[in-house]
Amino acid sequence: MDIRVFPTNELLNAAAAGLVAHLLHAKPKAVLGLATGSTPVGIYEELVKLYAKQHIRFREATSFNLDEYVGLPETHEQSYHAYMQQHLFAHIDLPAEQANIPNGNTADLAQECLRYNALLEHAKQIDLQLLGLGHNGHIGFNEPNHALVAGTHIVELREETRIANARYFNSLAEVPTHAVTMGIGTILKAKSILLVVRGTEKAHIVHEALTGPITTENPASLLQTHPNLIVMLDAEAGALFK
Ligand code: GLP
Repeated sequence: MDIRVFPTNELLNAAAAGLVAHLLHAKPKAVLGLATGSTPVGIYEELVKLYAKQHIRFREATSFNLDEYVGLPETHEQSYHAYMQQHLFAHIDLPAEQANIPNGNTADLAQECLRYNALLEHAKQIDLQLLGLGHNGHIGFNEPNHALVAGTHIVELREETRIANARYFNSLAEVPTHAVTMGIGTILKAKSILLVVRGTEKAHIVHEALTGPITTENPASLLQTHPNLIVMLDAEAGALFK
């Protein structure tokens, strides 16, 4: 496990974007696993800058997003479809048909999980999976539980997750109750994983996830088993790492 603590968010963003750029240079057809939330925003900004300066291109790459809310149309400003357009896809040359996001706004969610799993199987392996961290240790929307699911599935969001994400909605009642998420098995199959965590409020959970017992009650703790995990922390999130 490679844990790096950065004195500033600018340095962290540049390092994380640099990893992606390095991968795209070495392998233009790379398969990227993408995340949402506030954590990756600055990394996507850096990638857009690198693309604008023609240092990187995405034309041959493929991407898979981790998750999407159930019941939000793609046009809803808080959907992860809208997020990805806003922060990345609208500004780069990744063809839309190569940018995969689970569809949480369909009548047949079970079929959608099968479809997304089949796409992931066809892609064989994600080269680099970008992950943020939920306040309760969730990755993607794999919530703490007595058991976790390997493949893409529907998950009921925990109350603390809905409360944490309510800041983006007008009220808690508007936050969806369910999401479709890539499973923990798919995440762990990625060739390499980049976990990014920022902020004092996540210092304890990330320390526990990476140094505590491996338990499904802290899904990010499963990352300890991954052979190629890179962790990038800002100074606040990394405060408990000596
Ligand atoms: C969200 C997403 C996760 C994300 C996490 C943290 O609910 N499903 O993929 O990593 O919660 O979000 P943030 O980066 O905004 O703290």
